[in-house]
Amino acid sequence: MKGDLDAASVAGFSGDIPGLIGDLRSDHAGETGAVAIYQGILAVSRDPAVRHFALAHLATEREHLAQLGALLPPGQRSILLPIWHVAGWLTGALPALVGPRAVYATIDAVETFVDHHYEEQVRKLPDHGPGGALRTLLIACQADEVEHRDEARAAGTPTTGLLTQAWKWLVGTGSALAVMAARRV
Ligand SMILES: [Fe+2]
Ligand SMILES: [Fe+2]
Repeated sequence: MKGDLDAASVAGFSGDIPGLIGDLRSDHAGETGAVAIYQGILAVSRDPAVRHFALAHLATEREHLAQLGALLPPGQRSILLPIWHVAGWLTGALPALVGPRAVYATIDAVETFVDHHYEEQVRKLPDHGPGGALRTLLIACQADEVEHRDEARAAGTPTTGLLTQAWKWLVGTGSALAVMAARRV
């Protein structure tokens, strides 16, 4: 872990930043879902390019999950983690049943959401001290998510199909609802 950033230091400055523990709970829940998305894709897809893409992203998401898990004691994690796992798995597996284009459109939608989610938190954190170390970590995660989004965008074909638009809307709305819930429980 970077510098003096750990669960104890987060507990120490969390009182200075309103909603910080809830935010971290939603990050940890989100990274749990992200790992499951790529596991869902890998459970279904036989496309070599999709599998290569998903394996690389899965490794990054596992790292994010471990880094956030180190900041949040088990008692402060979302009690709905099994639900975030299943929802994430389906978010990867269902488009993988349809095909590579659907997978890339889904990842584009998910990572666009996560980019904004991290951006919101980065703005709340100071640029020095333990809060600054957390800010640095979240900026690094955010940069990975933006890379994932851009890779998906480059690999996919732009589609304006109604079904794809509806699915992307569902993924974005579902993610927003999941964050709201995970911030609380
Ligand atoms: Fe991530
Ligand atoms: Fe990601």
